[in-house]
Amino acid sequence: MREDTITRSIEEIDITKPAPTQEPMRQYYYIRKCREIVQEESKKLGRPLTARTVTFGCQMNARDSEKIVGILEEIGYQIVEDEKADFIIYNTCTVRENANLKVYGRLGALKKEKKKNPHMKLALCGCMMQEDVVVEKIQKSYSFVDLIFGTHNIFKFAELLYTRMQGDRMVIDIWKDTNEIVEDLPSERKFSFKAGVNVMFGCNNFCTYCIVPYVRGRERSRNPKDILQEIEKLVSDGVVEIMLLGQNVNSYGKDFEQPFSFAQLLEEVEKVEGLKRIRFMTSHPKDLSDELIQVMKQSKKICKHLHLPVQAGSSRLLRIMNRRYTKEQYLDLVAKIKKEIPDISLTTDIMVGFPGETEEDFMETMDVVRKVRYDAAYTFIYSKRTGTPAATMPDQVPEEVVKDRFQRLLAEIQSISAELTKEDEGTVQEVLVEEVNGQDAGLVTGRLSNNLLVHFKGDDSLIGELVNVKLVECKGFYYMGEIVAEA
Ligand code: SAH
Ligand code: SF4
Ligand code: F3S
Repeated sequence: MREDTITRSIEEIDITKPAPTQEPMRQYYYIRKCREIVQEESKKLGRPLTARTVTFGCQMNARDSEKIVGILEEIGYQIVEDEKADFIIYNTCTVRENANLKVYGRLGALKKEKKKNPHMKLALCGCMMQEDVVVEKIQKSYSFVDLIFGTHNIFKFAELLYTRMQGDRMVIDIWKDTNEIVEDLPSERKFSFKAGVNVMFGCNNFCTYCIVPYVRGRERSRNPKDILQEIEKLVSDGVVEIMLLGQNVNSYGKDFEQPFSFAQLLEEVEKVEGLKRIRFMTSHPKDLSDELIQVMKQSKKICKHLHLPVQAGSSRLLRIMNRRYTKEQYLDLVAKIKKEIPDISLTTDIMVGFPGETEEDFMETMDVVRKVRYDAAYTFIYSKRTGTPAATMPDQVPEEVVKDRFQRLLAEIQSISAELTKEDEGTVQEVLVEEVNGQDAGLVTGRLSNNLLVHFKGDDSLIGELVNVKLVECKGFYYMGEIVAEA
């Protein structure tokens, strides 16, 4: 359903009758019910009510926040960037311990704020809320929180908010898992020219260190028709670049009765007229197909960039991590991709300090980094997640050892990626202009097909445009450039 159609359907719901049982109509009904209350309160205060959503996690978490903001706007909240808002929503992440700590830190600060402004509302949602211990802790130590919901029932946000508005106690609704995908809810977008589109939810891989399968549930693919309709609508609204999102996009469609592969989906997306660039993440190396490589090779729109998390180089550790590939298989895959698509840019995620990681294991990781030569890598220190198999594995690596390895890894990655960035100096490349530069208003910042940034002279009329830019000077991980007429 198109966004304007959604808005119209919300207006058409009869709120004098009991709530519909069907979704999404039921939520349209509660959006209107909440709207009445918000309007009343806003009249009393003589100003609009404000809301702010804070995203702590990954791109999928950010996409969820856009859905929350979409509902908030339909309810009638004015969206602000200010923590002094009337309604604050924290969309949390729990992939590593410090993601959780950040949330507790900010909650502590909000406690005082809420004492001063008792009418202020606070909701917590996202991955952290799927963990029982977290919810128990919040009930005990942060009882001023108004609403808690999880990753499976975001679509119910309006209904839950209405319940909270009608009562005076904390409302908690967490689902363990779901098969449901509710389409046609309102959604806001952060950028006018690029957008994330979910292709699947959840993860079935159970890498032994990772909490995601426990907090995001089993894999569920969205219907290709729904995905394509959403993209067509986005493009007709001016979007030129889309990012297809899933924890492991390569298993897209495997849950359908009639299998439909991610490569096939990409071919369909390619056909959307007016769409200029296609990105996707994340690809699990274990099931990246030859078909996908061929589709990427032939495509005019898919960016020549592949995020291919390796996690570690040691086949022994990879087995314990349950990654289901060996070092050799990963390197063979990379060789095959580079042979077919020579100008591909490869990026990765790497973890150091997994339980039992020896210096020899770590040297295998360094070896992969040197052999693959990543354009960029996200590096993480292993963080123990209660409930995952790795949390109880023996030989957790001492902190000093991990820190030392982490520094060595970072230095290697940075020196390789600086070399690779330098190689493109002087070339002319197509750039999607994203924003006016934060530091220098005479400059704009754009993104290359390989995801790197370039700053060059220009103004806000260029935002959302694809332009050709000469990469005049490499500055390590970005370029200074100048716009040229022809590539
Ligand atoms: N689905 C993606 C990863 C999502 S989580 C994939 O499989 O590639 C993003 C990254 O966080 C992972 O790639 C991993 O490197 C890191 N990560 C996950 N669990 C972690 C943990 N317990 N400690 C440290 N890093 C972790
Ligand atoms: Fe976590 Fe592995 Fe699933 Fe990625 S594939 S989300 S690392 S369990
Ligand atoms: Fe974090 Fe959840 Fe994403 S745990 S990384 S926000 S899927």
